[in-house]
Amino acid sequence: MADPLRILFATPEIAPWVKTGGLGDVAGALPPALIAAGAQVHVLVPYYPALRTAFPDARLLAAIDAPGGLLPACRLLEAQSGELTLWLLDMPAMFHRGGSPYLAPDGGDWSDNALRFGLLSRIAALLASDASPLDWRPDVLHLQDWQTALAPAYLHFTPGPKAASVITVHNMAFQGLFPAAVLADLALPPECFQPEGLEFWGQVSFLKAGLHYADTITTVSPTYAREIQTPALGFGMDGLLRRRASQISGILNGIDYAAWNPANDPLIACPFDADHLDAKAANTAAVRARLGLADEPHVPLLGVVSRLTHQKGLDWLAETAGRILDLPAQIAVLGSGDAALEKALEDTAATHPGRMAVTIGFDEAMAHQIEAGADAFLMPSRFEPCGLNQMYSLRYGTPPVVRATGGLADTVVDPGNGARSKASANGFVFEDESAEAFFEATARAVATWHNRNRWRRLQRNGMARDFSWRHAAQEYLTLYRRLKAARVP
Ligand code: ADP
Ligand code: GLC
Repeated sequence: MADPLRILFATPEIAPWVKTGGLGDVAGALPPALIAAGAQVHVLVPYYPALRTAFPDARLLAAIDAPGGLLPACRLLEAQSGELTLWLLDMPAMFHRGGSPYLAPDGGDWSDNALRFGLLSRIAALLASDASPLDWRPDVLHLQDWQTALAPAYLHFTPGPKAASVITVHNMAFQGLFPAAVLADLALPPECFQPEGLEFWGQVSFLKAGLHYADTITTVSPTYAREIQTPALGFGMDGLLRRRASQISGILNGIDYAAWNPANDPLIACPFDADHLDAKAANTAAVRARLGLADEPHVPLLGVVSRLTHQKGLDWLAETAGRILDLPAQIAVLGSGDAALEKALEDTAATHPGRMAVTIGFDEAMAHQIEAGADAFLMPSRFEPCGLNQMYSLRYGTPPVVRATGGLADTVVDPGNGARSKASANGFVFEDESAEAFFEATARAVATWHNRNRWRRLQRNGMARDFSWRHAAQEYLTLYRRLKAARVP
């Protein structure tokens, strides 16, 4: 048998231990799918408190000297979770902190994020080069988002044999921007501080370093791969991305079929599948009871689970909630984020007791319960690199209402788009960036819900589609093989 591909997968978060959004889910599910497809994968992630608790006996692999600048010495530990080997970056002063991986208790970024994720990037690059203290060398270094994106810059300035690098962009809106002075702290040579490098309007951009220096770039859906090459969604880097267009591809994320399976989800009230959709009603009743919503089975329940940020378009929900409730419908929101948006949604809920419930916070169990219990799911994102929640919704027989952008456009089919889409329709899609367009699509969903046969067809179409990680894993393997082959003299 041919040598297996050896992949070092570097990530700032990994489900189920450390997760702030979809990136955590991807890091928790893609590596196991790659291993199942025959690759050797090691996952590099900081040794956060949750990982310490989960793996208190992680074994010491290497003590690593201070890499220069203000970057400190650190240790690399190894732990095993099933088939998955975790390489834990142990630097307690940086990573042994409570709360979010990125935010201090006051809600602002940790003041030393440049050094923290500079160190993560630096160690990823070290392990991918001939200077690695370990015997195991990857063929490909696979990086996720800005927090690991400095690694290709470090690799670029590392002499000798090294792994090929690929950066996956999960969200162009997060760029890791820092003052120019951090360059010396990060022990990077001054010559990389230029437009043909990691300089971005006078600042250091971690993301730009990845986009400029990585051998290849992927993003998490085919549509988003095109969108980031336009001024509207390139966040100032579309020019660079257009220049690198031949190196950009979009690979649609999968979802974790073990964690998100309505037929056997321990977090929901009543398991169900496409042949037993009547059982979904028990989940709806359970959500209503938990959230204090009126027991009105003749009214559809619309669910939201989301970060509450500009990206997600939920200000349109705040704006039109009164009219949506009058359709009539009920609304259940779980999320956290912008204080103003949280307040706007909470205020609307307060004036509609029993009809709209807003829960501010992060609650994995409630997320599953809303996916299972809601009749339809609302995800009106202004942009959405991939989006996992609409895929969870499709799998849970909860047709999503989405805007036609990024991964939403690649996964949700509206019944109104011609004869072919009639047969494969699984949700509702609107185009315009406006509260009115969102309201119109939501009203269409509510009207359709009253037609039981049509609704069942939408539900079954969504549930029949395969969103497992198998396809994505094969696409990544093809990409890794191509990168590896290009390295061999
Ligand atoms: P993004 O990564 O942009 O936030 P995704 O749809 O890719 O969007 O992934 C979001 C992930 O985070 C999903 O797994 C979703 O269930 C979860 N999530 C978001 N907000 C919450 C919340 N308040 N409570 C529980 N899970 C949440
Ligand atoms: C980002 C994006 C989201 C995507 C997730 C995982 O957080 O906002 O659309 O699904 O990453 O790739």
